[in-house]
Parts: sequence; C-alpha cells; structure tokens
Amino acid sequence: MAKKITIKSAFVCQQCGASSPKWLGRCGECQAWGSLVEERVSSSSKGSTRSSGGLSHSAPVPLSSVAEDETARLSVGIGELDRVLGGGIVAGGVVLLGGEPGIGKSTLLMQALARLDAAGISTLYVTGEESASQVAMRARRLGIGDSMNLLATTELESVIDALSNHRFHVVVIDSIQTLRSAELESSPGAVAQLREVTGRLTEIAKRDGVAMFLIGHVTKDGAIAGPKVLEHLVDTVLSFEGDATHAFRLVRAIKNRFGPASEVGVFEMAEDGLREVPDPSALFLAERPDNAAGSVVVPIAEGTRPVLVEVQALVAPALYGSPRRVANGLDGNRLSVLLAVLTRKAHVHVMDQDVFASVAGGARVDERAIDLALAAAIVSSLRERPLPEGVVVFGEVGLAGEVRAVPRASARVKEAAKMGFRRVILPLLNAERLSASERKGVELVGVKTLDDALAVLG
Ligand code: TYD
Ligand code: MG
Repeated sequence: MAKKITIKSAFVCQQCGASSPKWLGRCGECQAWGSLVEERVSSSSKGSTRSSGGLSHSAPVPLSSVAEDETARLSVGIGELDRVLGGGIVAGGVVLLGGEPGIGKSTLLMQALARLDAAGISTLYVTGEESASQVAMRARRLGIGDSMNLLATTELESVIDALSNHRFHVVVIDSIQTLRSAELESSPGAVAQLREVTGRLTEIAKRDGVAMFLIGHVTKDGAIAGPKVLEHLVDTVLSFEGDATHAFRLVRAIKNRFGPASEVGVFEMAEDGLREVPDPSALFLAERPDNAAGSVVVPIAEGTRPVLVEVQALVAPALYGSPRRVANGLDGNRLSVLLAVLTRKAHVHVMDQDVFASVAGGARVDERAIDLALAAAIVSSLRERPLPEGVVVFGEVGLAGEVRAVPRASARVKEAAKMGFRRVILPLLNAERLSASERKGVELVGVKTLDDALAVLG
C-alpha cells in the first residue's frame, strides 16, 4: 500500500493567529470571516520554545535571593517616552510600538536612537519600510547627526547577521510587518512570518541583552495589524495615538513587564519632529472658550500623571426622527447611559434633544471619572448657562443617579490647584478622605448624587 504523503501545512487566521488543519470560512477562535490562509509549517519554527528573559533557572530559588537588575535600565533621553517605558528601556527588553501610518512612529524612534547614539550607545536602525535615502532625508530634517547605523533590508536573516557581527545595544525595526524570513514561504506580514520574525528577534534580544523596538502597523480598529500573537511575544506594548487633525500625540503603555501599564506620554508634532509636552494640561486648555455654556474642565488621571481636559457638550432640539447622539474622544455608550440617568434621576429632559459631546483637543478619555463633568456639560448646554469660573468637576455617575468615588482623587485635586482652579466638585467620599494638606488652595465640594451636583452648579 502506498504510504500517505503529508504536506505540513496549516490554515492560520490572519486576525488572531489560531490555526486549523482544514480551511474554514470563519475562524473558530475569533469568529472573523474569511481570515484563514494556508501556510506551510516550517520545521525550524516548530517546537522552538521562546525563553522569557533570564527566567530559565533550573532549580527553584527563594524569591528573596533573586536580585533586581536595575542597572540595566537605560534612559532614551526623551522624558515622556522614558516615563511610558517605566523609566527607560531594559537590556534584553522588546518593545512593540503600534500606531496608524503617518502618526510619527518612525520619527519618534529615530529621535530616541539619535539621543542614545549621542550618549555613546551603539544603535542600529533597520528600515524595511523606506529606502535608506528616505530615512537619511528624515534624519537631516530632524537635525540628527550621521553617526547612527542604518540597515535597509526586508530579510530577517540579514538583520540577524548584522546583529551577530556587531554588538548593538539598542535596535529599532521599522517595521515588523516588512521583515520576512527566507525559511518560511508565506509573504511578509502573514501571521506565520510575524510570529517567526518577532520570535527570533526576541530570542536574540534576550540572549545578547539587546534592547529592541519593533514598529508595528495597526488596522483601523486599533489592533496591531494581523495578530494579537505579537503582544504575547514582547515585553512591552506601546500604542501611539492621535488625531490626524491635531498636533497632539499620545504614547500609551498597554502592557509593560518592566513598569506600570496605562502610563501616558504626550508629544506634539512640529516641523522638527516630535516635541515633548511636559505640561499637557496647559496645552489641552489653551483654546478653551471663555464663559461658554457646555464646557467643563475635568482632571483625568490615566497613568501616574493627572491631566486637565475640557469636555464639551452641545444640546439642540432634534428636528426629525430619533435624536442623534455623537461622541468624540469618549465612549458613546456612556453618553447614552448618562442621558438616560439625567432624564430619570435628575429630571433633566434631554431625550428629545440631539446631543453632541467631545473631548476638546483630540484627546481620548476612557475613564469613568469623566461622567459627572459630561453630565454637567450637557445640562449647561441645555440651559445655556456656563459654569462658574475656576471650577473643575469629576466623579463617576451610577445608574441610580449616585455619584461614586474614583481613584487618585488627591492627584486630580492637586493638578486643578496647580492650574489655578479654585473649586472642585467631586464625589463626597473622595472629598472626605482628602487631608488638609491635599486640599490646600482649593475649595472642595463633595456631592452624593447627580442632583446635588447640579444644584451646586446652579
Ligand atoms: P512618520 O514618523 O513617518 O510616521 P509613521 O512612521 O508612524 O508612519 O511621520 C509621519 C508624519 O509626520 C508625516 O506626515 C510628516 C510628519 N512630520 C512632521 O510634521 N515633522 C517632522 O519633523 C517629521 C519627520 C514628520
Ligand atoms: Mg514609518
């Protein structure tokens, strides 16, 4: 009897990386339609277990005997980026920087490499995306010296060669989607390639103590193009966000094995590259209209640094059909919930009104602490009555119309005081817990319900 010949191939979902032995119209893991692509399984990629940075002790040891390797942290010379990274990059650490095309990923990492280079650290910039001359052009525009090493290739093997021939301390790969390993047949950017390329680079980073930045493209809905699988292979995932119509750019830590997640760095895109914004509150409030109805300032606290932003609402009678609800920079579902709570619990009738709400300046806020400010902005616009000067508002609003405490109240109050605000409307529980020194320079008004808050605001 003829022996059955088996070709090693699998159908891999290009969205989530799940594999299936036969073709399916819909991925069984992530339910994406038409995302399965046949890929040849290479023997070299099979069973290669990835070590996770120095964790390969063969015998158990007491935790107390494991030394922290703090000296290995290296400042990239850009304060905002250092903070998001948790104080700098770590030797052997692999950082994935995701963001939409044109947001400034190449610019930011080129600036970081230039600073490291100037500090005498050996760096390499690998470009698969742009030609060497395009990269050089950008470097001149950024006023960067010529000493940085550049490698223009799309072959993983030539990157690995370069890394074994010379000891680089910090390497940027721009971008991970353009690199391809000759050992696999699939095209660059396919899940199998991404996994292979990222896996092998990560291995080298760990083995040789090289810090690596991998640039990754994201799809429109914000996922790193192709696969979530990448996020598991790397130590740190940063997301570069911003609105193409604004100069502000936020770098957010989504995952960080070496520092706090949810830290945010703020930049501004200028003629000569990205500039740090050490005082984002001033920037976000710079264009705030004087004495305008529907405008409320709220201290948000994503990461360790509080930032004041302006929430705006515009309420107008709906002309026909069901009223429109449009949210920019904040959660549209939250807006709908708040409108229902306002109607039922605070007797503010907005159900027959169009409501537009946004966070000014192109920032995005996902914090519940914005609820009370948003509600105040809606009521202020509806009644065409501006809030009193010098007031900030924060707090979560529950479905019963109660105002709930939020974390980091002290930092929020401090930032408001620093920016010259004199009155803070906040959850009662938060207000009661602040010490005399934490409330210095501001009047705190603790509220228990949405009704209370609206009464205070007149
Ligand atoms: P880039 O870093 O190429 O983005 P990415 O790598 O994320 O695709 O930067 C893209 C945009 O930034 C580009 O549209 C031009 C703008 N830009 C500036 O405004 N100033 C500058 O100094 C540079 C280098 C770019
Ligand atoms: Mg780029």
